[in-house]
Amino acid sequence: MTTSRTPFARRYLPAPPWRDRKGAFSPLKAAVLGLLGTPAALLLVAFAAGGLGAEPVERLQDEAGRWAVRFLLLSLAITPLRLLWRWNRLILVRRMVGLAALGYALGHLAAYAALEDWVLAKVAGEIATRFYLTLGAAALVGLIGLGLTSTDAAVRRLGAARWQALHRASYVVAPLAVTHVFLQTRLDPSEAFVLAGVLAWLLALRIWRARAGTLTATAGLVLAAAAIAGTALGEAVFFHAKFGAPLVNLLAANLDATAGLRPAWWVAWLVLPAVAVAFVRGRPTAAPRPRRAAA
Ligand code: HEM
Repeated sequence: MTTSRTPFARRYLPAPPWRDRKGAFSPLKAAVLGLLGTPAALLLVAFAAGGLGAEPVERLQDEAGRWAVRFLLLSLAITPLRLLWRWNRLILVRRMVGLAALGYALGHLAAYAALEDWVLAKVAGEIATRFYLTLGAAALVGLIGLGLTSTDAAVRRLGAARWQALHRASYVVAPLAVTHVFLQTRLDPSEAFVLAGVLAWLLALRIWRARAGTLTATAGLVLAAAAIAGTALGEAVFFHAKFGAPLVNLLAANLDATAGLRPAWWVAWLVLPAVAVAFVRGRPTAAPRPRRAAA
């Protein structure tokens, strides 16, 4: 079903986010929009109902930051998944996911400013002097730049090639954001290792595709195995350096289910289903049987 938008509106006004470029209702876009908005809606309802604990604004800050970085990684996953799953329509939601990451990151910053009683000079001073905040701010500036240049008008103005080159900046923004998360971790860096493992897989897929010109399910699997092993090794090296525990014991903890799921397992749970779908969808369809020659 197409809309009755005028040619002026179609040219100059953004289409509602649940409609595709032709103005038709897109169930995919509507579903993704709902998914992206759900954490914000739940958080705001819980906040209004006083359900966010003793430090509600701090909780808002943490949760908004978490969703920002998750959606940032999801936006980076769209292109590789589109190729691995041979599902071109996935591209329809890439901009929406990136803008959601930006929205949550701005919410995260707003909550931080609220915690600092909106004394913006203090916020700026903290950002300038605390390295992990400087990295977070650099990631946010990058996200804002990507957001501002993601409109159709900006794409037209820049031209496809320059726009694509500019949007490769997301491959810098995401490591900045993940490093920001890692450095602010005080007790348990598990979530930061999961983010780093998934990011490593996504970056490796990008590099593989640039080198090989194509992305197969087998490549996805090989790189997933490397990302899972790299996460286990990275975590073990981190705790070895921090507490001096033997590396072998730290690696063996990955095999002990009673210690809870280690980050490497979380990475496996996140990326292997995507690879499995790639194997199912990427399988070549059976070639038509040759016709029997007429007797
Ligand atoms: C000017 C920009 C930013 C500022 C001032 C800022 C500030 C902070 C602060 C103060 C914390 C520590 C919270 C605590 O101690 O509990 C934090 C954590 C965090 N930030 Fe940021 N941040 C910024 C940008 C970003 C961006 C761009 C992202 C993601 C794309 C992000 C994601 C996170 C995450 C995931 C955490 C950890 C939350 C948790 O699990 O507790 N931040 N940030």
